[in-house]
Amino acid sequence: MLEKKVVTKSSQETFDFGKYLGEVIDFPLTIFLQGEMGAGKTLFSKGFVAGKGLTDEVTSPTYTIVNEYGDPPTIFHFDLYRLHDLDELYEMGFEDYLTQGCTLLLEWPDLIAADLFEAKLVIVLKTQLSNPDEREITLKTGDAKIKQLLSKF
Ligand SMILES: Nc1ncnc2c1ncn2[C@@H]1O[C@H](COP(=O)(O)OP(=O)(O)O)[C@@H](O)[C@H]1O
Ligand SMILES: [Mg+2]
Repeated sequence: MLEKKVVTKSSQETFDFGKYLGEVIDFPLTIFLQGEMGAGKTLFSKGFVAGKGLTDEVTSPTYTIVNEYGDPPTIFHFDLYRLHDLDELYEMGFEDYLTQGCTLLLEWPDLIAADLFEAKLVIVLKTQLSNPDEREITLKTGDAKIKQLLSKF
């Protein structure tokens, strides 16, 4: 497992960091986005989608549960906050989303047992009490390809 920490000092820096990762990760993968409300999970996703060269508007999937970006879609952006159990997720056809070779961005992934679903990259965003515009972003991966990318910064 490789762990990397990055500190961003503004919303723009978190967007830019997401964009950078979107640019350098040139294969489909699953990203778990963890952190409390307002930590920057959606903002990071906006950057990531932009980094993939997509101009789709990225909004929080809190109510839709899933947003799709690209035509045909190459990124599925989930927010599982409002779901109560795994059955609800499968009822909305979650398995179909897994088998399309797309990148998955998952906010509030806690519902999904780690062993049921292998996250290739876990990103934890933490607000800092000392500075409301600062976030500590921790990236964790056991995946060899992603390790190699992360070791570059
Ligand atoms: N360094 C930072 N990184 C990310 N967001 C920040 C930062 N500083 C301030 N913010 C603000 O925090 C909020 C993050 O919101 P959002 O991305 O929707 O969070 P989440 O999806 O985790 O609930 C935005 O209003 C953003 O402008
Ligand atoms: Mg969000």
